Amino acid sequence: MSDSYRFPDTFLWGASTSAYQIEGSPLADGAGPSIWQRFAHSPGRTTNGDNGDVACDHYNRWRDDIALMGELGLQAYRFSISWSRVLPQGTGSVNRAGLDWYERLVDTLLANGILPNATLFHWDLPAALDDRGGWLNRDVADWFGDYARVVFERLGDRVPMWATLNEPWVVTDGGYLHGALAPGHRNLFEAPIASHNLLRAHGRGVQAFRAEARKGQIGLVVNLEPKDPASDSHADADAAQRGDAYMNRQYLDPVFFGTYPDEMKDIFGVAWPAFPAEDFDLIREKIDFLGINYYTRGVVRDDPTALPVRIAYVRQPEHAYTETGWEVHPPSLTRTLLWVTERYGRIPLYVTENGAAIYDAPHTIDGRVDDPLRVWYFREHIKAAHDAMTRGADLRGYFAWSLLDNYEWSLGFSKRFGIVHVDYATQERTPKASAWYYSEIIRTNGGALDEPGDSHR
Ligand code: BGC
Repeated sequence: MSDSYRFPDTFLWGASTSAYQIEGSPLADGAGPSIWQRFAHSPGRTTNGDNGDVACDHYNRWRDDIALMGELGLQAYRFSISWSRVLPQGTGSVNRAGLDWYERLVDTLLANGILPNATLFHWDLPAALDDRGGWLNRDVADWFGDYARVVFERLGDRVPMWATLNEPWVVTDGGYLHGALAPGHRNLFEAPIASHNLLRAHGRGVQAFRAEARKGQIGLVVNLEPKDPASDSHADADAAQRGDAYMNRQYLDPVFFGTYPDEMKDIFGVAWPAFPAEDFDLIREKIDFLGINYYTRGVVRDDPTALPVRIAYVRQPEHAYTETGWEVHPPSLTRTLLWVTERYGRIPLYVTENGAAIYDAPHTIDGRVDDPLRVWYFREHIKAAHDAMTRGADLRGYFAWSLLDNYEWSLGFSKRFGIVHVDYATQERTPKASAWYYSEIIRTNGGALDEPGDSHR
């Protein structure tokens, strides 16, 4: 075996999930409803009307799932905490049972030598806060800061790695502009306000963490997707710039530079508000690392009818696409990690999500789940991450999305991203070939990338 893809000894290998996508039992033990509980139970919002009432039943099966993580050799586990389990009304009285559940999870991970990486918000806003305006209410930043403090008080001494928010772009684009995700609004004027308040909340979360002088690290998780113009025309080049500003720089420029990209005014027109200058001090609170969720790139052309960003995606016939219609493009992961390093400085980076929804053929006769395309996806993307590291990115770890097949938001259970297959009728877990391959990559610290991946059990 050659050593060409060896990672540093300190490199952290993990897998990710999120609360509403796997836990089930969303109202158990005194929890309040989240906007996802509400949205998923609203007719017509999700594929087949699927909801997260049961999902992977992780709320009851967490011990077995941790044992499985151990079997696969995971060094870290990224999960999210459900705000409305901890604070059923979003603010005010604390539900001890909710915190106890996460405490047991964290302690058991630690007892198994698995590093807990906790995200405070992965889209499941307490419904009670949505009733008070949700991300449109400026007070949400303080609500989030108070929630973060409650969680840090209980778990801050044990969880070494925290993220405030997962993917503010998706929350806003899906939840407030196009309406495919909870809370399902479609409003040009709301989108910039929601984004801005998400960033302010992030800042409050970081402040709450620093206030207690915690030993661990805190960061933000964004999804980044480079945009390439479909042609040499100026119009397409401008379209790619707008797409990049909207999806990538809209969140990172304020966090690192304290300004929004100029393109935002062009994109949102009269719907782009003037934000108070003092907000940017809050948004710029120093973070310890940046988490990057990378799935695909976007090849775009100018499309004046596609408001507000005015871009259309152009399919690349020579490339593979996943079941969610995303182009498989590993070099863009390298590019993304290097771009962040060049533009924002050599900040510690983690790939906090990377993975693919691919059709998994039913079990083979001997009960295995072979997913050669996912094996290939992981192999090529982990190599791409390695390339970025050798070219200067301070990449510290990689988390596969996802540990388990799970509730893919408004697409319900129709898409499977897991390295572990879940039979939703029996809740039986079966590691797919990709899980064993990933396990081997971890065991050899990248060495297995030099071998053909599909030879693993
Ligand atoms: C999200 C996950 C989601 C995954 C696949 C990311 O945007 O953080 O919750 O399941 O992508 O769509």
